[in-house]
Amino acid sequence: MDAIRVTGNGPLSGQIPIAGAKNACLTLMPATLLSEEPLTLTNSPRLSDIKTMKLLLESLGSEVTLMNDGQVIAASSHDVNNLTADYDIVRKMRASNLVLGPLLAREGRAVVSLPGGCAIGARPMDLHISALEALGAEIELKDGYLHADAKGRLKGAVHEMRFASVGATENFLMAASLAKGTSVLKNAAREPEIVDLVQCLRKMGAQIEGEGTSEITIQGVDRLGGATHRVVTDRIELGTYMLAPVIAGGEVELLGGRISLVQAFVDKLHAAGVDVTETENGLLVKNKGERLQAVDVTTEVFPGFPTDLQAQMMAALCTANGTSVLEETIFENRFMHAPELMRMGAKIEVQGGTAKVTGVERLKGAPVMATDLRASVSLILAGLAAEGETVVNRVYHLDRGYEKLEEKLAAVGAKVERIAGE
Ligand code: EPZ
Repeated sequence: MDAIRVTGNGPLSGQIPIAGAKNACLTLMPATLLSEEPLTLTNSPRLSDIKTMKLLLESLGSEVTLMNDGQVIAASSHDVNNLTADYDIVRKMRASNLVLGPLLAREGRAVVSLPGGCAIGARPMDLHISALEALGAEIELKDGYLHADAKGRLKGAVHEMRFASVGATENFLMAASLAKGTSVLKNAAREPEIVDLVQCLRKMGAQIEGEGTSEITIQGVDRLGGATHRVVTDRIELGTYMLAPVIAGGEVELLGGRISLVQAFVDKLHAAGVDVTETENGLLVKNKGERLQAVDVTTEVFPGFPTDLQAQMMAALCTANGTSVLEETIFENRFMHAPELMRMGAKIEVQGGTAKVTGVERLKGAPVMATDLRASVSLILAGLAAEGETVVNRVYHLDRGYEKLEEKLAAVGAKVERIAGE
């Protein structure tokens, strides 16, 4: 297994290009199942999760080609000849469950393995199930698989979710697009990736209003066509790399970044004393050479502070001036980076969903273990300013969500290199 070695190397300067959003692409790709026409996605990120989704769609009968070094995805689902999303693929990537809604809407049936838990939590699917049952589907759990039947054609309905689940919103929107009649989803997720999905579905002929708000209305149509769609910028990659100059010092421009994608995160950076300005080409983050001020952070659904930036923010607050309290309200076990940061000298007390971080002058490099995607990158960030060398093991987690991470950081002066595993 590969590892990544980071050595504290002083202030950074230069530009980091931000790729298309993994979490948008992972819901846009299954949308190919809704149509027999070709769907082309541009600005797609070059990540292992995208390759996993390609394999899953191909196992269902879709044709998926990655072009331009993976920055363009050409998908066509003219013939779907398998309705089962196999455990072997689904267990590796929970987003595989996003084929459930489109497969059910197009073929009237779908068999999708439950993903099983992952490092950050149990990650049940009850919200997906109740959303699709609202559209008339019958769904039962057998041998670890969800067996869904549309009983002919899905029917439009009004459905309110108890929690604004991103994935359940995406499955509902894709299924309702082909249902008979009108649907209204209440307490819908408002993430930019939802907005991006709706804009793509609209290009395919879907009739949807209200994306980005908590109430989305869908007028079902009989068929959807093809489209070409540019994947929205990845706000989590953006926020992650914004913290590189915050932690290591210096000034970095994040190309493609817009404040609107990370407003709650930028508000916290401002409160901590960081300068963020929007330029013509992206966001400029300047570390004014002062120590970060401690700030309290609570993760919330969009437009609140994103849970996917919590680990990275914790890494930055480990050397802040004062004590910060981080509250993780979205996932039940998302502090696995804390013990690893403590190996580097951080002072963190975790109590359930709350972590109290008391800033220290400087962290010390150490061998650390990556546990999940965002925890892994928080350790890389911490290593940028730690004294000496940090080696992050099991970086396959990183490759799921960060394309060419070591190149992007080395290009702005960081000392980061990949060590090929045995
Ligand atoms: C999406 O996951 C993202 N993944 C996650 O990013 C992100 O952390 C999450 O949204 C929250 O923003 C993709 O888009 C591929 P949820 P999703 O359904 O859709 C509970 C990353 O690092 N829940 O909004 O699975 C669930 O257990 C990944 O890129 C239920 O209880 O998130 C969790 O506690 C990690 N029942 C909370 O809701 C359900 O049926 C949020 O889940 C579904 C979810």
